[in-house]
Amino acid sequence: MALNNPGSGSPKRPPRPANDIAISCRATNPISINDDLGKVFLDENQAKATTATRLFRNDEIFNAITKVVMPGFFSATRSKFAMWSTGCSSGEEVYSMAMIALTEIAKSKRSPLLEVFGTDINSSRIEEARSGFYGRPSRDAFTPNYWRILEKYAEIDSNSVTMGSKLRSICKFKLFDMRNCPKKHFFFFIVCNHVLQYYDSDGQQHILRNLKAVLNPGGFLYLEGITTAGLEGSGLVKEGSIPNLYVCS
Ligand SMILES: C[S@@+](CC[C@H](N)C(=O)[O-])C[C@H]1O[C@@H](n2cnc3c(N)ncnc32)[C@H](O)[C@@H]1O
Repeated sequence: MALNNPGSGSPKRPPRPANDIAISCRATNPISINDDLGKVFLDENQAKATTATRLFRNDEIFNAITKVVMPGFFSATRSKFAMWSTGCSSGEEVYSMAMIALTEIAKSKRSPLLEVFGTDINSSRIEEARSGFYGRPSRDAFTPNYWRILEKYAEIDSNSVTMGSKLRSICKFKLFDMRNCPKKHFFFFIVCNHVLQYYDSDGQQHILRNLKAVLNPGGFLYLEGITTAGLEGSGLVKEGSIPNLYVCS
C-alpha cells in the first residue's frame, strides 16, 4: 500500500458513497485456483505483501495512454474506452489512468464512454481502492502537470486526497485473481505493472493468455516485469515507442 508521504496526522476517511459497492466488471470466478496454477506463483506471501503503489507512479503508462493508446482508440472509432489495471493494489494507478484518459478525452472533443477497472487478490487493498481516499502526496512526488490534473479531479486538503465523484463513477474495483480468465468484458488497454515478476515463465504465459482473451483487436498491453520466456508463444510484439508496451501481432 502506498500512502504517498502523508503529511502530519492521519487523514480521516470519509463515509463511503452508496455507488461504491456496485461493480459492473464482469470478471468472475474470484480466487479459485487449482493446484497446477498454484505452483506458478513464485512466492505467494511475498506477492501479497508487496502492494506498494502511488499516484502517477509510472510515466510510461501515462505516455502510452496519451501518445499511443488513445490515438489508436480514436482511429478505431469505438464508443467505449475500457482499461484494466490488473494487480492494482490500493487503486492509485487506476485513478491516475482515469485522470489521464479524461484529460485526453476533453482535449479531443469526443465523448466515448470511459470505464477503468482495477483488480487485485488482496481484499483490504481493494477496500482502500474503493474508498478513493489517500494520504496527501508531497509536493515533489510528481510533476506540476500531474498536480494540475489531480487538482481538477480530486479534492485535496492538507492531509488527504479524495477522488472526486466523476472518477469514482468511472473507476470500479473487484477482488480478482488474474490467474483466472475474466469473462465477457473487453478492454482496449490492459496494464500489468510490477506484478509479473512474482511469477515464473509458465505463470507469466498463463496470465498473458488470460489477458489476451479480453483484449480488443487493435488494443494494447503494458507489461512490466515480463521475461522473454514469459512472452514466448504469446503473439505479442513490442509497440516500439514506449518501453513495455505490446500489441497483438
Ligand atoms: C507492487 S503492487 C503493484 C501495484 C500497481 N500495479 C503499481 O504498479 O503501482 C503488486 C500487486 O499485485 C497483486 N497481485 C499479485 N498477484 C496477483 C494476481 N494473481 N491477481 C491479482 N493481483 C495480483 C498484489 O496483491 C499487489 O497488490
